[in-house]
Amino acid sequence: MARIVLGVGGGIAAYKAVYLLRVLTAKGHFVTPILTDSATRFVGSTTFSALASEAAKVSLFEDSDSIPHTHLGRAADLICIAPATADLIFKLANGAADDLLTATVMASKAQVVLAPAMHEEMWENFAVQRNIKTLSDAGYFIVPPSSGSLAAGDTGMGRMAEPDVISDFVSCALAEGKKSLLGRKVLVSAGGTQEPIDPVRYIGNRSSGKQGRAFAKVAACFGAEVVLVTSTPAPEFPGVKRVFVSSAEEMSKSMHLEREGADIVIMAAAVSDFRVANVSTSKIKREGRERMTLELVANGDILTSLTSSKSGECIYVGFAAETDSLEENLEKKLRAKGVDIIVGNDVTRPGAGFDSDTNSVTVLTKSGDRLSLELVSKEMVAVKVLAMAHRMLEGF
Ligand code: CTP
Repeated sequence: MARIVLGVGGGIAAYKAVYLLRVLTAKGHFVTPILTDSATRFVGSTTFSALASEAAKVSLFEDSDSIPHTHLGRAADLICIAPATADLIFKLANGAADDLLTATVMASKAQVVLAPAMHEEMWENFAVQRNIKTLSDAGYFIVPPSSGSLAAGDTGMGRMAEPDVISDFVSCALAEGKKSLLGRKVLVSAGGTQEPIDPVRYIGNRSSGKQGRAFAKVAACFGAEVVLVTSTPAPEFPGVKRVFVSSAEEMSKSMHLEREGADIVIMAAAVSDFRVANVSTSKIKREGRERMTLELVANGDILTSLTSSKSGECIYVGFAAETDSLEENLEKKLRAKGVDIIVGNDVTRPGAGFDSDTNSVTVLTKSGDRLSLELVSKEMVAVKVLAMAHRMLEGF
């Protein structure tokens, strides 16, 4: 059990902070909510008080305690701020302490987990990105926002991460206690590759790239310098360099190039095993054809080529997407691919695999350790696997 201050900023996602509070208390934590003045315009403090371990706090001055910020700040094991608005992020990055929440953060040495929530334009604004970077560099865990419904019927990037995902980050920040991947380089591949048939068509697969992107964001959140080689669109995220590729061949080139200096390589991409032998330079016409045969040739295995040419200390993580005999194929791929860790998922299971926000995986290491994760967020899968890779790097 930990003592957690739950800071709630003034955004529509404040209603989700109520559920987050429930999740955190259900995990046995002692949670004290602090609402900013504008947060109370979205959700009343009584709602938070009813679910919290003690009454919600809203003011520096109305408490019987004359210095509530120092008491709350010192007692906290962790401060979780959700939602964090652009204004709150600005204040925290610049050392403001003009209300109970910012003063408490200032008066605390606890880890801070911060979940931004705002409209896409605001999230992409240079000032917000600069302030996020300042906080991330200072050791804050930034829980990446996602794309989806925003306030007033808008959609886009900037939607606060789901409470379960934020809670996963809190658990991890509590367990690790620090930005464990600081100074480490993590290289991740994501998405399904596209193998051209002609200038307008390709052979692809259903991989959305979500699991790979989750790895990139979580690794950045834990302080790593991250390179994401991706064949599917990936929004900007502080600390993540994106390299866009399309075919397996392009992905292979970029992975080999970017591997320089990497401590952890995660091959989460769904690489096409075959490509078209003779790619047409002009659009193939339908007229006069009732059948068509494409000749395919095998692509090289990127992961095997990386592990068989490795030098220095680096942890390799592979994936196994299976529709049957998961266990058997997992063991086989762990050895055949020469990886340290393999993450297997049965892509036919509901709530697991392609395009889902959740995943159910079995993780196997070359020393025989095994971990099963049932229907957890893709971020949680990343958190657990990165923690394993980190332990291997540190030799414990
Ligand atoms: N992989 C790779 N290069 C390929 C094919 C796969 O690097 N040409 C990597 C994937 O990124 C993944 C692992 O190998 O980390 C396993 O991929 P998967 O598609 O599950 O298996 P395959 O090796 O392609 O074998 P099969 O399709 O027969 O199951």
